[in-house]
Amino acid sequence: MKKKFIAMTLAVFMGISLAACGSKDEPAKDNSGTQDNKTEDNKTEEDKTEDTKTDDASGGENNAASGDVANKDKPLVWFNRQPSNSSTGELDMAALSFNDNTYYVGFDANQGAELQGTMVKDYIEANIDSIDRNGDGIIGYVLAVGDIGHNDSIARTRGIRKALGTGVEKDGDINSDPVGTNSDGKSTAVQDGSIEIGGKKYVVRELASQEMKNSAGATWDAATAGNAIGTWSASFGDEIDIIASNNDGMGMSMFNAWSKDNNVPTFGYDANSDAVAAIAEGYGGTISQHADVQAYLTLRVLRNALDGVDVDTGIGTADDAGNTLSDDVYAYNADERSYYALNVAVTADNYQDFTDSTKIYEPVSNQLDESAHPSKKVWLNIYNASDNFLSSTYQPLLQNYDDILNLDVDYIGGDGQTESNITNRLGNPGQYDAFAINMVKTDNAASYTGLLSQ
Ligand code: BGC
Ligand code: CA
Repeated sequence: MKKKFIAMTLAVFMGISLAACGSKDEPAKDNSGTQDNKTEDNKTEEDKTEDTKTDDASGGENNAASGDVANKDKPLVWFNRQPSNSSTGELDMAALSFNDNTYYVGFDANQGAELQGTMVKDYIEANIDSIDRNGDGIIGYVLAVGDIGHNDSIARTRGIRKALGTGVEKDGDINSDPVGTNSDGKSTAVQDGSIEIGGKKYVVRELASQEMKNSAGATWDAATAGNAIGTWSASFGDEIDIIASNNDGMGMSMFNAWSKDNNVPTFGYDANSDAVAAIAEGYGGTISQHADVQAYLTLRVLRNALDGVDVDTGIGTADDAGNTLSDDVYAYNADERSYYALNVAVTADNYQDFTDSTKIYEPVSNQLDESAHPSKKVWLNIYNASDNFLSSTYQPLLQNYDDILNLDVDYIGGDGQTESNITNRLGNPGQYDAFAINMVKTDNAASYTGLLSQ
């Protein structure tokens, strides 16, 4: 305990000195420990008192969570990375039903993937006169894959291949393996598609695709994608007519490195603010996975369990503050114990409505009364503190909702590579009332539930 306290104090001190050197407008990159996104200089007095509270809470001796509920019986929500087998995609129901108050919050991966594929296909059809840059009758695209073992990434790869006719079947579904390079169209993981517009037939070819994993093992890696487009453009040049990416972090990296200057439409996923803004400069489009709804649901299912009310409160059923979600923005699957937000395509037609990805969703923006919903402590981790979507969209949203829901959340930022980097910081689960977990690898749920069962 003593040691832990010293370590925490050190971490906080280092956080402060780091923040003091950083620019005021940039959110702190390393959100390990209990720092929030504001730098020390631009905090209000209120923020500072709150920090003290939080610091005491995680480091002090007399701050155990209220009540004496066993850790294994405390509310638990998995989010963004659904407990599942990373090879087969099969859900890990043991983790999803760890206790009566365990849920997953994510989004509908298949619906979103289909939207992304359709968005790209619609773009090709609408721009057929100019899309084939070298005029050889082949519409070539390259694809940045996020994580070959992540259901969402797999779904997006399939969505693009399905819409463009380049998918081939494997084990009853569309093969989602990256092809490496496929300049001659002979890869066995994909096939050449075809598209007929105005009586003219075009071949559609996946020229290249690759998992964007860096040498340290971090997936969805934007910098790796930026390098890949350098290599691909050097070998394919004006054979590349379209860029598709499993997310905006990688998409924007390719856009900034190459496609913006070369006017090659680039399509991503997540509707991060920077990607939405780039639509005005030629970024092709993105998909909103309704992170505003997901972040709310992530904390809401915990709030409800802590209040001992029906899980639907403030979700399908209005709560005492008038918060409620309509069923056009989410779906609940009871068998999977999972909430899925629905996706929306964001293109040149509607991007003006999506410019701030951190804005809370109005129908669930009402403050809960503190006397009826007293403050509770939550341990929450972000698996990769430098993931674009999680750090620039999801976490800021969580930080907006935690106030509304009277939850005192400790945000732990991982390195995106090692589970133990995160589980090491779940050393005192007894000090928290509830847990929100974002795993590095979807197979690893037991590393967390094991700690909670001790
Ligand atoms: C997002 C990606 C992100 C990943 C992290 C996905 O849902 O679209 O941008 O990197 O989650 O797990
Ligand atoms: Ca061409």
